[in-house]
Amino acid sequence: MKPEVAPSILSADFANLARDIRVVEDAGAKILHVDVMDGHFVPNLTIGLPVLESIRKITDLLIDVHLMISNPDAMAVRYVEAGADFVTVHYEAATHLDQILTQVRESGAMPGAVLNPHTPVSVLEEILPKCEMVLIMSVNPGYGGQEFISTSFDKVRKLRKLVEAMDLNVRIEIDGGIGLHNTAEAVYAGVDVIVAGSAIFHSKDPAATYRDMQSTAERVNVELRSDA
Ligand code: DX5
Ligand code: ZN
Repeated sequence: MKPEVAPSILSADFANLARDIRVVEDAGAKILHVDVMDGHFVPNLTIGLPVLESIRKITDLLIDVHLMISNPDAMAVRYVEAGADFVTVHYEAATHLDQILTQVRESGAMPGAVLNPHTPVSVLEEILPKCEMVLIMSVNPGYGGQEFISTSFDKVRKLRKLVEAMDLNVRIEIDGGIGLHNTAEAVYAGVDVIVAGSAIFHSKDPAATYRDMQSTAERVNVELRSDA
């Protein structure tokens, strides 16, 4: 599948969300990454259902909700109802991850699992067939603008091998510390969805940064396909 850069609105201007979303949508983005934090599973607090409902009304982008909340079992489906297209849930926060993935799918969205940097890929073996996406955190979740954890691409490669060995079509997403400087490496490692917050929204020209990252990802993808 074609790789996609997914701008994360965590680094957008929350007082001008509609404007900032329009900028990346007009630049050609297909997926918008929305970080939901509860101040409990992670120390920071961001946005929840009412804001997601408002975002849903102003954009046709695929909305990728990254749930960083305790007890996602109680809330995941509510995010589908509020307009999410993808809902990814932390393995570390879920009590019954298998059940959440099923419920999200039955509610009409694409479910995914998220792994913190310390959680090995192997824990997903049994539920991988139920995932449309697996998100590998390349920072400890909670804040934008953190430094990329250098072992994260090894983890992506491990997951890519597992996905291929199981003959599945799971998207691999990476989130944290990604910018133009490591976009190519992400795609070489096997990433399909590249989340970028501060690299895009804190740059001088977010639309141009998005386009540079997206064209880099696509170029590497073409190169990989022609090698295969
Ligand atoms: C961090 C969030 C990320 C965040 C990434 O917990 O999950 O989506 O926006 O920010 P950058 O791209 O600035 O590292
Ligand atoms: Zn995120």
